[in-house]
Amino acid sequence: MLADEVIYLRRLEATDLDRTWEWIHTPEIALAIGVNIPVSRTAQLRWFERLDQATDKIVFAVCFRDNNEHIGNVSLDSIDYRHRNARFSIFLTDPTIRRQGIGTRAMRLLIQYAFEFLNLNRLYCKTTSDNHAIIAFYRNLGFCIEGRLREHEYIQGHYVDKIILGLILHDWACEDNSV
Ligand SMILES: CC(C)(COP(=O)(O)OP(=O)(O)OC[C@H]1O[C@@H](n2cnc3c(N)ncnc32)[C@H](O)[C@@H]1OP(=O)(O)O)[C@@H](O)C(=O)NCCC(=O)NCCS
Repeated sequence: MLADEVIYLRRLEATDLDRTWEWIHTPEIALAIGVNIPVSRTAQLRWFERLDQATDKIVFAVCFRDNNEHIGNVSLDSIDYRHRNARFSIFLTDPTIRRQGIGTRAMRLLIQYAFEFLNLNRLYCKTTSDNHAIIAFYRNLGFCIEGRLREHEYIQGHYVDKIILGLILHDWACEDNSV
């Protein structure tokens, strides 16, 4: 089981879809995970049916151990088994549970799953270059800034640079990352 003392990760279930639909349409999360146009319930259901059978993506519900409350999602997608890399994403929904180390716990479990179970070698994501909080969050986990995509996206009336953050198995293994 993917768990530590406080949280666990489990596969996203059909019964989580209503909740997840609400979350991905909140402005902060939509912006963070790149939901540009509203997602219909039908499209979400189709997405889930494909997800359930896919081998190149997996979405986990992040849950508190003490009451099983579902508090956010972490995911791997574009999993490339030949080159052993994957993109990931994370969001926690309730701002009042932020800055308590929950996101770090969820990422550590996801990274452990990706490196130790799926045998991947590299994880990566993109974020906007002025999102210093998120960059600090990933750097705390050992991610390096690997590059800048200039004016890569048009967000709220402006072109923004995107930063690529990556973590290599070797770097992770050199730290004491036993969960
Ligand atoms: C990103 C996210 C998962 C972080 O979760 P979290 O539980 O709040 O993060 P943690 O408490 O584990 O933070 C660990 C460290 O990251 C950095 N950090 C996290 N959030 C920060 C913030 N808002 N401002 C500054 N630094 C921040 C800090 O260094 C923090 O350590 P500290 O609290 O001891 O200073 C959460 O903020 C979130 O869901 N945001 C909305 C969705 C999103 O932006 N996803 C990322 C898309 S790329």
